[in-house]
Amino acid sequence: DKDSLILPKSFPELKNDTFLRAARGEEIEHIPVWCMRQAGRYLPEFREFRAGKDFFETCRSPEDCCELTLQPLRRFPFDAAIIFSDILVVPQAMGMEVQMSPGKGPTFPEPLKEPEDLQRLKTKVDVSSELDYVFKAITLTRHKIEGKVPLIGFTGAPWTLMSYMIEGGGSVTHSKAKRWLYRYPEASHKLLSQLTDVIVEYLLGQVKAGAQALQVFESHTGCLGPVEFKEFSLPYLRDIAGRVKDKIKESGLDNVPMIVFAKDGHYGLEDLSESGYEVVGLDWTIDPCSARVRTGGKVSLQGNMDPCALYSTKERISEIVKRMLEGFGTKGYIANLGHGLYPDMDPENVGAFVEAVHTHSRQLLNR
Ligand code: CP3
Repeated sequence: DKDSLILPKSFPELKNDTFLRAARGEEIEHIPVWCMRQAGRYLPEFREFRAGKDFFETCRSPEDCCELTLQPLRRFPFDAAIIFSDILVVPQAMGMEVQMSPGKGPTFPEPLKEPEDLQRLKTKVDVSSELDYVFKAITLTRHKIEGKVPLIGFTGAPWTLMSYMIEGGGSVTHSKAKRWLYRYPEASHKLLSQLTDVIVEYLLGQVKAGAQALQVFESHTGCLGPVEFKEFSLPYLRDIAGRVKDKIKESGLDNVPMIVFAKDGHYGLEDLSESGYEVVGLDWTIDPCSARVRTGGKVSLQGNMDPCALYSTKERISEIVKRMLEGFGTKGYIANLGHGLYPDMDPENVGAFVEAVHTHSRQLLNR
């Protein structure tokens, strides 16, 4: 009945745990695959469902989030689902206004300009009530997914969220946010710590609601250098993994694998492999073999086909996938793209990508 779907218990039994086993480096029958932005505008059914609705209104409707999360699974045999939501719900919970302008992307009408603007942020954020709608979406989806595949929860990482809060939207140089790092290091650390506290509670809430894995998106690593990364990103990424894992244990819950995806952070690969996450997600600028060498078997790896390879033919996609799988090997590996799908991509080629991963990996595993 409807009431039982809002309770985070008695979830249907998981039938395909390949993704979870690969995250833990265990034996698998085929390499698991999912795509960042698999619930997105490349699907006609997604565009139809979202038409005329405000983006964050959709995010606040657990029923809508559930439907959009399930859409790609009806088309393709993905081995995991990621809850439909957005990283910018965290700045909203901290008291900032964010709009999604079609064609322009996320916009903050009143971004943070100077350190005194930090006073505009809530000092105590009641995560369980402010982000309750995400938790409800996760619980509902865990029931409706019927144990087909695991459900991934996610968050933006502190530096990426800080940069949005200061830039007020997308940016090429991130110079306004980087100005804070160089000019106001103390205020920057204060903001990053505040974000970290909210993110830890948020991720724990997602696990309590039914998330079976967590991905942390540090999408704006590429505009930092190694020194700034070590000071303003890595310590917070570490802190998040450590605190979330401690709290999961304290709460008597089962551990869930955590994935860190620091886009364009190739310079930090060694550090990332020792930051407390089971899985390191890679963008396409890193060669699979060298990623294996540099992470020394300490973590599972996820990625990293250039999304633009999907503009190619099915035959070519199959060859590119084969080479990628040979590079990563079959152990401790989750196939994905190096970043999200773009709206103009052909769903057929996404299907070809998924099929190529399954087919080639069974061959490599002699199954
Ligand atoms: O399928 C999934 O991956 C799950 C849902 C998801 C969305 N956003 C839905 C979404 C996830 C995991 C995100 C994360 C996210 N959001 C990130 C980190 C990943 C990355 O891309 O590096 C970032 C930086 C954002 C912020 C954001 N939200 C951007 C830059 C945009 C695109 C704006 C545009 O117009 O291109 C969004 C909007 C958004 N979030 C869409 C979707 C499906 C598209 C807008 C729509 O549906 O109307």
